Amino acid sequence: MTTVTLNNGVEIPQLGFGTAAIGEWQQDDSYVTETLLKGMSIGYRHFDTASVYGNERALGRAIKESGLPRQELFITSKVWDSEQGRDTRDAFERSLERLQLDYLDLYLIHWPLPAYTRETWEAMENLYAEKKVRALGLSNFRESDIEQLATFANIRPTCNQIELHPYLTQKTLVDYCQFHKIAVAVWSPLGSGSWSGVKKSEKPISDPLIVELAEKHGVSVGQIILKWNIQQHRIVIPKAESLDNIRNNFLLADVHLSEEELQAIDGLNRDLRFGADPDTAQEINKNIPVPD
Ligand SMILES: NC(=O)c1ccc[n+]([C@@H]2O[C@H](COP(=O)([O-])OP(=O)(O)OC[C@H]3O[C@@H](n4cnc5c(N)ncnc54)[C@H](OP(=O)(O)O)[C@@H]3O)[C@@H](O)[C@H]2O)c1
Repeated sequence: MTTVTLNNGVEIPQLGFGTAAIGEWQQDDSYVTETLLKGMSIGYRHFDTASVYGNERALGRAIKESGLPRQELFITSKVWDSEQGRDTRDAFERSLERLQLDYLDLYLIHWPLPAYTRETWEAMENLYAEKKVRALGLSNFRESDIEQLATFANIRPTCNQIELHPYLTQKTLVDYCQFHKIAVAVWSPLGSGSWSGVKKSEKPISDPLIVELAEKHGVSVGQIILKWNIQQHRIVIPKAESLDNIRNNFLLADVHLSEEELQAIDGLNRDLRFGADPDTAQEINKNIPVPD
């Protein structure tokens, strides 16, 4: 599996397994564990969770049951808005306890909350110094949020996980991150899971160009979009529950898009978000609790 080398030297598998809303939002049961075990048996080693997904315990059980050596896995979690600031260290410890792990590979600030960023990041830097986490990163940070962080951070963030798909290419932010050696990780690459309520016909997987390219290359629409990301050095974390989709998303080696095809997909951008906008997310997020 291809990896991206983060700016602190840590290698992250470029393809990961997104875990938000497997089954339902904040579902944490044997169905989630079995779905994650299917991913592990097919070969996924990188899993993206968050305290607010409410599935860290299910992922922890899957890790135990898989019998895989810990060092073969790459586990990401995130600190939620209500946990930022002085609660960050405890929130991290709660995630570790739910995951039954003694360290994380990557810990992210889930959404920017500028008033709390300094205290949150300093707590994360301490966890990094104590070797409880191998890399620190951001999610949903705008350029202005990264600029603010740069005024006090001792450790440069390794990555920024943002919504990105053919209808939302975020070119300016991607160029900014790549210029500053902050890797770009892509959420909702296929146009979002059931949590968003967006109809399949409105997602980029149904776009005529993506369908045409899939037919031309004899692969699935999902593979076209994932490869469009992988060839442009982005980390990508599709979520899938059906065995066909889980397997299909893992088999990317045989697909190669030309430069013209990559640019044609870039051209589908319409600045369309399926998830929350960092400009307004705070208002929505404050009503979403972290389940234990
Ligand atoms: N940092 C953040 O703020 C943030 C926000 C949202 C998401 N995320 C992360 O990003 C991950 C991925 O985003 P997402 O869950 O919104 O959705 P997504 O990966 O864009 O799309 C998931 C949907 O696509 C379907 N699918 C999967 N593979 C497919 C394929 N090859 N062809 C056609 N359809 C396919 C899935 O169906 P089935 O499930 O039925 O197989 C599911 O309905 C999340 O799970 C989470 O880890 C992060």
